[in-house]
Amino acid sequence: GGLRTFLVGGNWKCNLSKDAITSLCKELAAAPDLETDKVEVVLAPPTPYLDHTRSVLRQDFEVAAQNIWVGGPGAFTGETVAEMIKDVGCTWVILGHSERRNLPQIRETDDFIAQKTKTALSHGLKVMFCIGETLQEREEGRTLDVCVRQLHALVETIEAGDWKDVVIAYEPVWAIGTGKVATPDQVEEVHEKIRHYLAKDVNEKVAQETRILYGGSVSPGNCNELAQLPDVDGFLVGGASLKASFLEVIESFK
Ligand code: G3P
Repeated sequence: GGLRTFLVGGNWKCNLSKDAITSLCKELAAAPDLETDKVEVVLAPPTPYLDHTRSVLRQDFEVAAQNIWVGGPGAFTGETVAEMIKDVGCTWVILGHSERRNLPQIRETDDFIAQKTKTALSHGLKVMFCIGETLQEREEGRTLDVCVRQLHALVETIEAGDWKDVVIAYEPVWAIGTGKVATPDQVEEVHEKIRHYLAKDVNEKVAQETRILYGGSVSPGNCNELAQLPDVDGFLVGGASLKASFLEVIESFK
């Protein structure tokens, strides 16, 4: 923490309905004293609900898309472009999520993700850039290599000045949706090494100013301990962001 503003993202993935979103947003509004000058909150609904979420969500929370097309509008059936995401009042996009990297039907590459990030940034959208190793990669001692490879694709694609609109989300794949949260030692070790890598491959300023979130089975029960770690600047939350108790994760910045 410290010089970096804490950020908590809620990734709803492919869940909820229009009615359920309306109810959840009403519950999230019932915490008027939340110090949103000290913690940024960003929620990511499925694409069909971006507009609706923006209209029913409290104004001091921001809205993210879960994907973006790599280019501009045109003959790209099924895709969603930055212009449309901005048109409905959304300001962020989640890119590089392990589900889009690893699901065999999707298999986004490091380069494609980096190109999409560049497109989003060039349109003034902010990006939560997800990275992380699988269980096998961790067991083979390749955690840092994998994270660096995923980040290096972005370092090669954007300018140093673009990093102000990028937040890194470290999500070890084995911790996602499993209830098996990484230990504080595991989290701090990787976050610290990511910062060190940024200092080396980009510059010291970017390393100090870029927020690094942790994601993977974050819950009201484990967030407070993780939030204390020096290189944890927030969370990207899946399952626990689907309920009003998500407010407890947001409050962990304190
Ligand atoms: O993007 C957030 C995510 O992948 C973590 O999911 O359900 O383990 O909090 P979950």
